[in-house]
Amino acid sequence: MATVLLFAVFLLSARFTARAQDSTTVSPTTSTAAFGQQLAETEENMGRLQNQVDRLSSMVETLLSSVDSLSAELSEEKNRRAQLEQNLTQELQETQLQSQRCCPASTTPTPPAEADCAAYKASGQTTSGVYTLSSGVEVYCDMDTAEGGWTVIQRRLDGSVPFNRTWEEYKQGFGDKDGEYWLGNEDIHNMTSQRNYMLRVDLVDWESQTAFAEYSTFRVSNESDGYRLHISGYSGDAGDAMTRHSLNGRMFSTMDRDNDDWSDHCSQEYGQGGWWFQRCSQSLLNGRYLGNCRDSCSHVQGVVWYHWRGWRYSLKSVSMKIRP
Ligand SMILES: *[C@@H]1O[C@H](CO)[C@@H](O)[C@H](O)[C@H]1NC(C)=O
Ligand SMILES: *[C@@H]1O[C@H](CO)[C@@H](O)[C@H](O)[C@H]1NC(C)=O
Ligand SMILES: *[C@@H]1O[C@H](CO)[C@@H](O)[C@H](O)[C@H]1NC(C)=O
Ligand SMILES: *[C@@H]1O[C@H](CO)[C@@H](O)[C@H](O)[C@H]1NC(C)=O
Repeated sequence: MATVLLFAVFLLSARFTARAQDSTTVSPTTSTAAFGQQLAETEENMGRLQNQVDRLSSMVETLLSSVDSLSAELSEEKNRRAQLEQNLTQELQETQLQSQRCCPASTTPTPPAEADCAAYKASGQTTSGVYTLSSGVEVYCDMDTAEGGWTVIQRRLDGSVPFNRTWEEYKQGFGDKDGEYWLGNEDIHNMTSQRNYMLRVDLVDWESQTAFAEYSTFRVSNESDGYRLHISGYSGDAGDAMTRHSLNGRMFSTMDRDNDDWSDHCSQEYGQGGWWFQRCSQSLLNGRYLGNCRDSCSHVQGVVWYHWRGWRYSLKSVSMKIRP
């Protein structure tokens, strides 16, 4: 805009100069008086034009300065808006945080947390599902099997969770409490060192037949002792695949931690899961979930309970659970 105006001023003064030159050359024979008059007129014209030029350039200056102040205002407005946006975002975040702090999702009073699923059963809970224990640990409580009250420490259902995990993962636990999971050696150790627990193993094959094994004592030692297994007192109809070929007193091994009694590496050789191994084991409930390959699954690679379905059968679903 300013450029256009300046150009207009330039054109005007150019035209004026041209006209002034014309008037001096048009009539060389006119008298001195006439010439004087003409000269005066020309000077007057020139003066008027000069005024116009002055006015135009002052207009241009005014316009330029208002353009300047407009753009200054614009950037100020932009800053204000950015700040307002920032303030609003901050406010929103604070409100969200506050609502989380002040109002937990459920407003119904929750009953006091219990130490295990047996305590929940005793307090009147009869529905299987995920419960939070007083230690803060979430577990699946089996309230249906054999009078209920079982704290589930391991569950395989569909192969959705890989069990070929590291020592650290078996230590902390992994998976989905509503589905497949390993509770975690640290929590299993903590629970079983606080009171006496029995272990129940439930097995389901691909014809939906079931079998179980119960052990009257079950305890897992601490990490510096290799989460050593203390187990005894078999009963059930699945066969004893844990103490007959003795896992009692064996440390836990994973793909990356070889604590077995064999020169080779049981976990790496057989199913890649974490388990208590001697040389190696007749049970392998954390092996690979091989699905329905009946009696022709890879040898001792699947979810195996040798005394019920043999080395080459990978079970459909299994679970390990404890109760005082
Ligand atoms: C944004 O917050 C600051 C500090 O809280 C305040 O000084 C400023 O006026 C606020 N700006 C706007 C645009 O609300
Ligand atoms: C676990 O097994 C799956 C399937 O065999 C494989 O793809 C994956 O890499 C394994 N994970 C580890 C950590 O070895
Ligand atoms: C195990 O129990 C100890 C002592 O009660 C506690 O400090 C620790 O946090 C517990 N560990 C887990 C994983 O719950
Ligand atoms: C771990 O358990 C072993 C065997 O019960 C015990 O001797 C040791 O003191 C325990 N270590 C810790 C750190 O609790």
